[in-house]
Amino acid sequence: MRSKVIAGNWKMHHGPAATRKFFNEFAPRFPGVEPTILIFPPTISLLAAAESRGGRPEISLGIQNIHWETGGAFTGEHSAGMALSAGACFALVGHSERRHVFGETDEEVGRKVGAAVVEGLSPVVCVGETLDERRAGRVEEIIVRQLDAALLGVPEDAVKSILVAYEPVWAIGTGETATVQDVEGAHGILRRRLAGVRGEGFASEVAILYGGSVKPENAAELLKVTDVDGVLVGGASLDPESFARIAEAA
Ligand code: PGA
Repeated sequence: MRSKVIAGNWKMHHGPAATRKFFNEFAPRFPGVEPTILIFPPTISLLAAAESRGGRPEISLGIQNIHWETGGAFTGEHSAGMALSAGACFALVGHSERRHVFGETDEEVGRKVGAAVVEGLSPVVCVGETLDERRAGRVEEIIVRQLDAALLGVPEDAVKSILVAYEPVWAIGTGETATVQDVEGAHGILRRRLAGVRGEGFASEVAILYGGSVKPENAAELLKVTDVDGVLVGGASLDPESFARIAEAA
């Protein structure tokens, strides 16, 4: 059994002071080690998060985006190694805002996944179709293409495993949640593809998270769906009370 992962993607919210305030309120609510709690603060708040999680390294941290190079003249970018030394163990890769707002390609996603696993971060690879793609019956084609491109970055002997997040673009920040059937169908497609490309052993190790308008009110139902190993929460992860209620649903 994979333990459930409750992940919060803060996007461009919560600077260092707000990050400290969040952890001071959130950390005492989780005395145990399950579910796995994983927070992606803005990069500038990573150190504040690492310092303010109250001696609770089991509250894991991740970076929202990395560059595939280890260093160099790339103004504004961060490498996987830098993220690690700031306290991150995970990296979001290919979030829909990176793909659709910043034009990130499948090929770049693969390179970032590769950099993450080589440097020792676990990548959380985000895949998901737009509303037009769903209406055109292209869900499987899109998410399999995005997954395959990401897997190209994972060396056969990679020590770090990957996580996958199915986030239908039309459900992100819209209040629209995918139905249980939509989620079960997409997660099944992803699990079978992981097994087809890398074998059953690899596929069974990969946690597949659902993301898109997850809230305290719908978390328990989503977390019960077959092949849903956790949730990736945007808006509702910003408030310690609502994120804690989602974690309690696991
Ligand atoms: P949302 O965002 O929960 O606000 O819909 C999810 C995400 O973008 O990861």
